[in-house]
Amino acid sequence: MSTQLTIALAKGDGIGPEIMDATLELFRAAGVMNHLHFVPVEMGASVFGKGNSKGMTDEAIKTVEDVGLVFKGPMETPKGGGGKSINVTLRKMFNAFANVRTFRTLPGVHTVYSKAGVHIDMTIVRENIEDTYGGVEHRLSNDMIQCKRLISAPGCDEVHRFAWQLARKLGLKKVFCGHKANIMKMTDGMFLERYKAAARDFPEIEAADVIVDALCMNLVIKPQQYQMVVLPNLQGDIVSDLCAGLVGGLGFAPSANIGKHISLFEAVHGTAPDIAGKGIANPTALILSGLMMLRHIGLLTQAAVIENALLAALERGVRTGDFGDASKPVLGTKAYVQAIVDLLGSKPTTVPAVAVPEKAESGPTFSRPPKPTSQTVIRTFSNVVRHVVGCDIYLDTPLSPVSVAEEMQRICEDTPFKLSLVSNRGTQVWPTGSAYTECVDYYRVRFELKEGHRPGDFGQARCVALLDKVAEKFQVCSYELLRVFDGVKGYSLAQGQ
Ligand code: NAI
Repeated sequence: MSTQLTIALAKGDGIGPEIMDATLELFRAAGVMNHLHFVPVEMGASVFGKGNSKGMTDEAIKTVEDVGLVFKGPMETPKGGGGKSINVTLRKMFNAFANVRTFRTLPGVHTVYSKAGVHIDMTIVRENIEDTYGGVEHRLSNDMIQCKRLISAPGCDEVHRFAWQLARKLGLKKVFCGHKANIMKMTDGMFLERYKAAARDFPEIEAADVIVDALCMNLVIKPQQYQMVVLPNLQGDIVSDLCAGLVGGLGFAPSANIGKHISLFEAVHGTAPDIAGKGIANPTALILSGLMMLRHIGLLTQAAVIENALLAALERGVRTGDFGDASKPVLGTKAYVQAIVDLLGSKPTTVPAVAVPEKAESGPTFSRPPKPTSQTVIRTFSNVVRHVVGCDIYLDTPLSPVSVAEEMQRICEDTPFKLSLVSNRGTQVWPTGSAYTECVDYYRVRFELKEGHRPGDFGQARCVALLDKVAEKFQVCSYELLRVFDGVKGYSLAQGQ
């Protein structure tokens, strides 16, 4: 027996324990347990139930940090009450910045595409830390709530570099970046720009991009044209569920959350509360996630043997109730896995078998950088010359645009700033605008330097003084400085400006 590699095991909630036990049974039968030692960690509903708002114990966190690998079942997110999703917390806390989801046509899993002879084999790489998943939300007025969309250059660089390296490893010819940079010119614009910058180191692979709404349509019409798409977090989440639908549903969608130090492997689906405890859940997505983990740690032979047995079972019509040929018997979770165990050593005949390495590995290979002693600050750009040129102040007021503008002009009279814009829900309503634009109780008033002043003449203190003056008369709900970076505006224009 080789040295065993330790992996943290969280069986999860709902169907989690059923599908995890079944998956581990398959791994045991394939000899995987000779190489791996699973340590249970306490996470999920039972931990939330004890009043722990993180959903995981301190011991669980320490184990995950010590071992660097987690195999997890789905976990329930408490509804309402401000409780955060433990699944998102895990990815963010341990900096698992790339979420890799693979979608493949499988034998015996009938879809409109498989019936039409369309073969799908696609990987979605989703940025996993930033975007609206920062979960930074505020109520700004009676009627307005904000969710901040945070996209950083180093965050983009990490996921793009990973995606390009994966594409090279998989021998892909073309990679797409999905985005909405036509509307969100700064956030998605940077995601796309950093994608193109990273592409320069991979000249043998074509770098293409596609707007996310067009991507969704193309995926439904001609999914086989995509091999890999890289997307920001929220768009990647939505698109990957669409892709799961293309290959037969969530029961066949595995995922890996990859970080520099810690990686987590889990199915895309949730806890399926409607079928939990019935012993009928489909464990395929978790098995496939487990295979991603085995490959991640270099157990290629065992991954290939298990995958071939799974494919051989599927093509024989082995199925759980959520898919497959209705003329074949429906198996429960345990019987389904037993049927795969019985076929270990077999290969599929109707689809290409996965190549089994000539020489089996002597054991897992897994290494990671030394443990950081504190949080690292990652940076892409430095030495940028930045100047303050004004500020946007956000007001909670039911006044009309004209009244807001009149008040603001009075307030800024004796300051270096002039009122240049009033907008409501991102649309300009002063100095020009349409009577048809409906307004809510939340305004942006933009102040910019008066003629005769140049960027760099004043620091942020003058803007803060202006904020004070506005706050004496109005409810201020938030505030942003306007800055130029190496002479380029670091803020967007209003719609209609
Ligand atoms: P879900 O994925 O649990 O279920 C959606 C539908 O798919 C249900 O009808 C369910 O029965 C079916 N389904 C899912 N997995 C299946 C499987 N392996 N075999 C057969 N049928 C399956 O999504 P839902 O209902 O929106 O979420 C339930 C809970 O799971 C929530 O608390 C949610 O927060 C959590 N969740 C956790 C995730 C994770 O741990 N990574 C991911 C998604 C949701």
